[in-house]
Amino acid sequence: MITFRDYYDNEVRLSFSKCPFSRNPKHVWVIARYKDKWLLTRHKDRGLEFPGGKVEPGETPEEAAIREVREETGGIVSKLEYVGQYYVDGKGGSIVKNIYFAAVKELASQTTYYETEGPVLYDQLPENIKNDPSFSFMMKDGVLPNSLTYIQNQLQEWI
Ligand code: GTP
Repeated sequence: MITFRDYYDNEVRLSFSKCPFSRNPKHVWVIARYKDKWLLTRHKDRGLEFPGGKVEPGETPEEAAIREVREETGGIVSKLEYVGQYYVDGKGGSIVKNIYFAAVKELASQTTYYETEGPVLYDQLPENIKNDPSFSFMMKDGVLPNSLTYIQNQLQEWI
């Protein structure tokens, strides 16, 4: 378990074991790859981030992850791997979010990308995301670097 504070100074607990905080997380976040690039989206309010969102009633978290990648980037997921889970003790309540890694086989063009402006591809993620106002707060705490390290070590063949 790794504990740190997020961009808004909320406490975050992150773990790479199987669903340590909730078996029914209500949020998902998907670190996605397409053609050897990182696949992000540009949220209209929050800025650049990996796709994700809320699990809808009747959906599994995995189904939500696949749907959110499709809605926010047009990406068709060909492989989805569980990475970890985190708990945020937020001021307006706590949330639990599953982190996934997704390989995307195709980027479909869409008339809407919902709350986002669609796909944004990076060969490499910038070094200074923390200080870059074009990036979302979600990309600015310990979840991203720790998850990338986990993916590099455990899911090497996909990156
Ligand atoms: P809706 O208005 O119902 O869409 O939800 P909301 O805006 O209240 O946000 P949500 O339920 O998604 O999250 C509640 C709070 O949890 C947010 O205001 C954030 O402070 C925090 N939160 C959500 N997702 C993340 C995340 O990925 N990382 C961090 N650090 N905090 C998050």
